[in-house]
Amino acid sequence: MQIVPSDPTPPTPSGATPGDEISCNARVLQGEVEWFGEVLDARLELHFQQPSKVSDIREIPPPDLSSDPSHYAELVREQAMGFEERLVFILALLPHIRPQALDTLFIRNQNLDRGFTEFGGRRGSSHGGFLPTVETAAFLLAGEELDRRFRITSFFERDHPLIRGELLRVDIPGAGEPFFSAALGVTTEALNRVTSGATHKPDYSISFPAKLITTRLEWDELVLAPEVLEEIQGVNGWLKHSRTILGDWGLGRALKPGFRCLFWGPPGTGKTLTATLIGQTIGSEVYRIDLSMVVSKYIGETEKNLASIFDQAQNKRWILFFDEADALFGTRTQTTNSNDRHANQEIAYLLQRVEDFPGLVILATNLRANIDEAFARRFQSIVYFPMPDRDLRLRLWKGLEGSGCRFQEDVDLEVIAERYELSGGAILNVVRHGAIRALDRGDPAIGVSDLVDGIRKELRKEGRTP
Ligand SMILES: Nc1ncnc2c1ncn2[C@@H]1O[C@H](COP(=O)(O)OP(=O)(O)OP(=O)(O)O)[C@@H](O)[C@H]1O
Ligand SMILES: [Mg+2]
Repeated sequence: MQIVPSDPTPPTPSGATPGDEISCNARVLQGEVEWFGEVLDARLELHFQQPSKVSDIREIPPPDLSSDPSHYAELVREQAMGFEERLVFILALLPHIRPQALDTLFIRNQNLDRGFTEFGGRRGSSHGGFLPTVETAAFLLAGEELDRRFRITSFFERDHPLIRGELLRVDIPGAGEPFFSAALGVTTEALNRVTSGATHKPDYSISFPAKLITTRLEWDELVLAPEVLEEIQGVNGWLKHSRTILGDWGLGRALKPGFRCLFWGPPGTGKTLTATLIGQTIGSEVYRIDLSMVVSKYIGETEKNLASIFDQAQNKRWILFFDEADALFGTRTQTTNSNDRHANQEIAYLLQRVEDFPGLVILATNLRANIDEAFARRFQSIVYFPMPDRDLRLRLWKGLEGSGCRFQEDVDLEVIAERYELSGGAILNVVRHGAIRALDRGDPAIGVSDLVDGIRKELRKEGRTP
């Protein structure tokens, strides 16, 4: 009998396997490294006045990536990288993907018996190869032409798209040392993307006070009054058509590209859930920033941390969701001490970034009155999430039943929906509490007393009596 080997990586429905993706990235990087090698050779020939095929390195064209499907090519197109950007980017990538390609730069200056200062570079503590610095990039791009050297400085400044876009990293040079001696590298994120294709999702940390929020619920499970849904559809409509409106219709000169939205209403009424679903619809990640956390804990660091969130968000089309927005956007406090002054400065900074952000920013609060009036006027949409009425509550209860939650036969959801004014979040808590109680008792379904007990707890939480 003949054994037919089975295919270890079955193709995904789209026809591409993760393995395919990696080979595709590898093939393109191989080409890019070879191009880099030719450019480096030419630069050295020109520098040491040896015969060369070219009189300027720019005569050596980089591979054409205009229709290549790899992640690297995608990035090159996304950032509209030209000859110089590509050369700097591949230089920064080399220690990770082909470290020996830079070994030539270790050649010694025979006259002085030391390395060539003009090549820049540094050594790592355990990496044996040549690690590029800004000087290395300058040598490649400018050689000894001062004019070019001055021009390329902008490449390594904070505003350059490759740096803002979190692709290149330029470290701070040692104290008193020239800027060009700064180490040049790539971010882990960029490296992962162009090699394994993995997109990295930053973790919540002190320097990144934002958290990715997701849901397994779908739009049709969101229970909102028609007028609320209509408002939300307005936001979705903007996301869908903003490109056309700003571009083809030429309104981009008058309108700012961003969209700011305020969700307000009592706790548990679906504000966070709605924000997450909006993200799901347009395929954007939603990051939640807890402002009470940002403001109280990191006075002084706030600007830097927020800047990093905004920069990344801008590049990756994230939706920013500011929870407990009143912490920052509340009526600004009269300054009495230096901490207040500091907080006010941070508020001003944040407001500016929110205003300038070209994507969707959603702010959520329980108390509309806490939002500064001047600021409220700047929202394109203000959506009120009321407590659900009887019909909506019934839909919420039935929704949970529909997704598999079991109630005993004598549980009349209509009566419960009618009698108890609870938010969607509270209903969910009641069901969780009831399920635990029932299962503890060995009962396969939630009974009336479980529900009543849970409802009491929820109402007490809100300071109400059942
Ligand atoms: N309108 C709703 N439709 C469906 N499910 C809801 C709704 N409101 C709340 N829920 C359920 O309750 C959970 C909590 O709601 P959510 O976190 O969206 O409330 P919220 O308005 O953001 O509250 P808070 O003001 O406390 O942040 C949701 O994940 C969902 O399961
Ligand atoms: Mg919420």
